[in-house]
Amino acid sequence: MKQKLEEINSSVEELLKNSTELDSLEEIRIKYLGKKGELTAVLKGMGALSAEERPVIGALANEIRDFLSSEIDSKKKELEEKLQNENLVKEVIDVTMPGNKKEIGKLHPLTTVLNELKDIFIGLGFEIAEGPEVEYDYYNFEALNIPKNHPARDTQDTFYIEDNIVLRTQTSPMQVRVMEKQKPPIRIIAPGVVYRSDAVDATHSPVFNQIEGLVVDKGITMADLKGTLEACMKAIYGNSTVVRFRPHHFPFTEPSAELDVACFVCGGKGCRICKGEGWIEVLGCGMVHPKVLANCGIDPEVYSGFAFGIGLERLVMRKYGIDDLRLFFENDLKFLKQF
Ligand code: DAH
Repeated sequence: MKQKLEEINSSVEELLKNSTELDSLEEIRIKYLGKKGELTAVLKGMGALSAEERPVIGALANEIRDFLSSEIDSKKKELEEKLQNENLVKEVIDVTMPGNKKEIGKLHPLTTVLNELKDIFIGLGFEIAEGPEVEYDYYNFEALNIPKNHPARDTQDTFYIEDNIVLRTQTSPMQVRVMEKQKPPIRIIAPGVVYRSDAVDATHSPVFNQIEGLVVDKGITMADLKGTLEACMKAIYGNSTVVRFRPHHFPFTEPSAELDVACFVCGGKGCRICKGEGWIEVLGCGMVHPKVLANCGIDPEVYSGFAFGIGLERLVMRKYGIDDLRLFFENDLKFLKQF
């Protein structure tokens, strides 16, 4: 039995010397020291020994068991340390290496100026409204005092989806949608994309952006319209900006006007950019037509309002001196990076 114990001792020592894996250590422990292990079997067989032998062999067995388990433990520690050191070497990070440069995009100039406009109008107490680009004929035309066969329909070459459904040709239908839902006082702007069946050139595109504005309350006059829009133009183009209002016609406003800004290149003398006019047309506006108010259930005897529609692309072109509308949609980074 003593011999058997010594055999176990030396074979475990031999195995430990050669083992390089943590997993195999556990196997060794189970094989020799586990419940069904070889050393345990020896201890179980001690009943057969004589009374003199038993304490001697017992002490030896215990000694060997303690010795082997501490050997296994220290081997385990050694292997764990080795593994950790290997991992440290493998995972080392050179903090002096240059990083990967991330290309950061920026906002499109149309978005930047639209955000500026929203800030200006929010500062004046307006709210932002949004509505559908696929619109009923009723909202796009009829309710805005543009009945079927009205000549104004010819100036807005319309994409029809169905007989009574169009791609909106203007953001003005948002006036009707807002007035149907909300009672005065109303102060909103409604930015959005509009569609017209136009050929693409330096100043035309079948898809472009407008910003509709609407104010309805008791006692709103043309003076409110002029003051608001002049303040807005100065906020965008600078305090020395000169504007003028020119009589015009829109079916949904009475009276109607267009707002021009003195040419940013020649300051009003007349040049190539303003086509010799000295002025650049920026928006249409007017006092909301009583019929439009009535169409939306607002009593025109009690309330009045003004409305305006700004062409965003044109506004941005003037702000940055861009002479071709197509640049906004081509997404050439050399162009976009300049803003
Ligand atoms: N909807 C007009 C257009 O697309 C622009 C416009 C003019 C809007 C006068 C208005 C307005 O609200 O009062 O040409």
